[in-house]
Amino acid sequence: MWRKGEDVGGHMADTKKAQWKGYATTPEAEKVAKFKGQKGSDGKYMVTMIEGDGIGPEISQTVKDIFSAANVPIKWESVDVTPRLIDGKTSIPQEAIDSVTRNYVALKGPLATPIGKGHVSLNLTLRRTFNLFANVRPCKSIAGYKTPYDNVDLSLIRENTEGEYSGIEHVVVDGVVQSIKLITRAASERVLRFAFQYAQDVGRPKVRAVHKATIMKMSDGLFLSIAREVSKDFPNISFDAELLDNACLKIVSDPTPYNDVVLVMPNLYGDILSDMCAGLIGGLGLTPSGNIGDECSIFEAVHGSAPDIAGKGLANPTALLLSSIMMLQHMGLTQHADQIQAAIFKTLAEGKTITGDLGGKAKTAEYAAAVIKNL
Ligand SMILES: NC(=O)c1ccc[n+]([C@@H]2O[C@H](COP(=O)([O-])OP(=O)(O)OC[C@H]3O[C@@H](n4cnc5c(N)ncnc54)[C@H](O)[C@@H]3O)[C@@H](O)[C@H]2O)c1
Repeated sequence: MWRKGEDVGGHMADTKKAQWKGYATTPEAEKVAKFKGQKGSDGKYMVTMIEGDGIGPEISQTVKDIFSAANVPIKWESVDVTPRLIDGKTSIPQEAIDSVTRNYVALKGPLATPIGKGHVSLNLTLRRTFNLFANVRPCKSIAGYKTPYDNVDLSLIRENTEGEYSGIEHVVVDGVVQSIKLITRAASERVLRFAFQYAQDVGRPKVRAVHKATIMKMSDGLFLSIAREVSKDFPNISFDAELLDNACLKIVSDPTPYNDVVLVMPNLYGDILSDMCAGLIGGLGLTPSGNIGDECSIFEAVHGSAPDIAGKGLANPTALLLSSIMMLQHMGLTQHADQIQAAIFKTLAEGKTITGDLGGKAKTAEYAAAVIKNL
């Protein structure tokens, strides 16, 4: 469904390699998002697994079971990312950093962030540690699962390292706090180039920057002007821009006109808009994502640790499973990706063994067994 090279009458697959290269205009840019991992002597890739908190271990187990049943040639290297405070800074254990660096790719369950306790979010720390500058969030209707709109096929790319998430906040005087939204040319250009290249890669003819430059004239203004500059390097992709509020209104009124567009935007807008889009296709249990970096990439569900249902075997593992499919595509294991994806969609379309969030009664493990049966 969100495979590179799909949906353009077959010719994308042939030109895929050329387009990945075509994106690059400098040797530095050529490095973007290319998977560099190598199979071991046993013919398997090593992949880092961060199981995460709350429902994380339950949904990670589902992925492991299904991959094992489908004979996917990978081995999991489980790592603990419980944060350590070193010199007053939240740090990820070195062993976890070494594992992702070595394997170039990780699958990650959700990590809970304590509110207002002075912790930097571990998710943010991971994104910064590995410079995961783009967050790709496809959002596509699931056949057989009825939602207000059919044929939703949205594609969002969120800047992942700065903007409203730069974490620069301070008290000016008692009762007055300031939070700084940081927009840099370097990070904006990187994510915008990636968005255009991604559009080429998946066969979408348009890129649209979502912004609020009418109010944040300098910060969003810079993002927008860089988008216009970068668009000139991609004459085969059309470019336009849309105000965030307008985009929200239009997407909830009718999302289908966005089916040929890649939306790209600063950090917070991407966070909120992608949750809104998830609501259009059936909720957070269904939406995957990929955090793409220069060297390493980490794939994870859009949802959080769902503490309200953790440990009860009720979680829907589809979002993490679809994230693992994106990961397999990134690694070039497309046949396994196709096989597992088809089994997931078949199980969902049958509607007999689906989890509570989708209106069913199945437990996480029963859903996993049904997917395995459909492989
Ligand atoms: N990328 C991440 O690791 C990530 C993302 C978002 C939130 N979080 C963290 O997760 C924690 C909980 O956050 P929250 O409650 O705001 O959001 P959440 O996504 O965990 O849950 C929101 C609602 O969706 C439901 N839900 C989420 N995933 C589901 C699934 N797979 N199957 C069925 N139902 C599901 C939950 O039960 C809950 O009712 C917080 O600590 C937050 O910081 C982490």
